[in-house]
Amino acid sequence: MSETSAGVEIRQLHKRFKGGDHDAVDGVDLSIRDGELLVLLGPSGCGKTTLLRMIAGLEHPSAGEIYIAGRRVDQDVPPRARGIAMVFQSYALYPHRTVSGNIAFPLEAAHLPRAVIAEKVRWAAELFGIAGYLDRYPRQLSGGERQRVALCRAVVRDPQVFLLDEPLANLDAKLRNTARDELKRFQRQIKRTTVYVTHDQVEAMGLGDRIAVMDRGKVRQVGTPHEVYEDPVDTFVATFLGQPPMNLVEQPGGGGRTLLGFRPEHLLPSDHFGDREPLHPIPLIVRRVEYLGSDRYVYGTVEFAPDATVIAKLPANIGRAIPEEEGGRLDFAVPERALCHFDAQTGARVRR
Ligand SMILES: Nc1ncnc2c1ncn2[C@@H]1O[C@H](COP(=O)(O)OP(=O)(O)OP(=O)(O)O)[C@@H](O)[C@H]1O
Ligand SMILES: [Mg+2]
Repeated sequence: MSETSAGVEIRQLHKRFKGGDHDAVDGVDLSIRDGELLVLLGPSGCGKTTLLRMIAGLEHPSAGEIYIAGRRVDQDVPPRARGIAMVFQSYALYPHRTVSGNIAFPLEAAHLPRAVIAEKVRWAAELFGIAGYLDRYPRQLSGGERQRVALCRAVVRDPQVFLLDEPLANLDAKLRNTARDELKRFQRQIKRTTVYVTHDQVEAMGLGDRIAVMDRGKVRQVGTPHEVYEDPVDTFVATFLGQPPMNLVEQPGGGGRTLLGFRPEHLLPSDHFGDREPLHPIPLIVRRVEYLGSDRYVYGTVEFAPDATVIAKLPANIGRAIPEEEGGRLDFAVPERALCHFDAQTGARVRR
């Protein structure tokens, strides 16, 4: 493989589909760095695929600019000349070609010598552990194996940029974990710029060097998994990441309505914290306790906001018995450093 790699620069990108009454992509600015894996994360319909297809050249922007490796591509550079390889959620393999034939397809289309093609096919197949399946047809493969064929077909093209649209979505949970690990190691190894679309926050956290969180056509926040999780800019990002999501309860008193945000794993018995940790007490009135093996979720309410459900996530190693009966009062607290404050009207973070 050559050493070329490249960043992607997106400026004020818009897309409005014909007959649409809003922009599916609504003013996106993004700098995707050379060699990084950037995840586009957001709920269904927020514009992830549309953004990816515009980078690929399969969709024409209504406004804005796209640069790949410093070259402007959005006006008149066709998909095949953009130096990209895209893998879709549905792998789109050719059913009448063998695995080998599928992987070789883009190389044959580029009229590479047969020996070179054979070598590249073998290299990719070994990389993704499917060298034993080269003579099979797609129908003779499992979903996970087909997904690897699609990835092989993308990597043999030696693109400057990989565009992956939920490539693991069809796999079962266990296979998805393995495939995620493989993909990450592969990307680390070749250090090729990769834009990875998913609506799965765990996948995003596990894979991304950085995550761009999208909502209704807009990028709300870009940052490392740690930054977007620990330091969300608004209630959308705060509640989209984390399972269960961040607790949001209206603050008692104070000028202007604010929401107090704290993650379920930070809400713990007060005496669990060290003496020196400044705490914000949040007495919890138990509604229900859920045992989940590695964790217990305590669903409850707080006196200052009785309508809101608050969840505490207790690791199993906090061994003490939690009173399970409804109405029991627990002396819980959140460390001051783990509190977020949001404007109740706009959802924006205040007092950062
Ligand atoms: N060809 C099209 N014509 C009209 N509207 C479209 C078209 N493609 C997408 N849309 C609309 O644009 C918006 C964004 O769609 P997009 O496919 O980019 O979402 P997404 O974030 O990829 O969602 P998902 O997670 O479900 O794949 C949606 O409201 C969708 O209905
Ligand atoms: Mg999509």
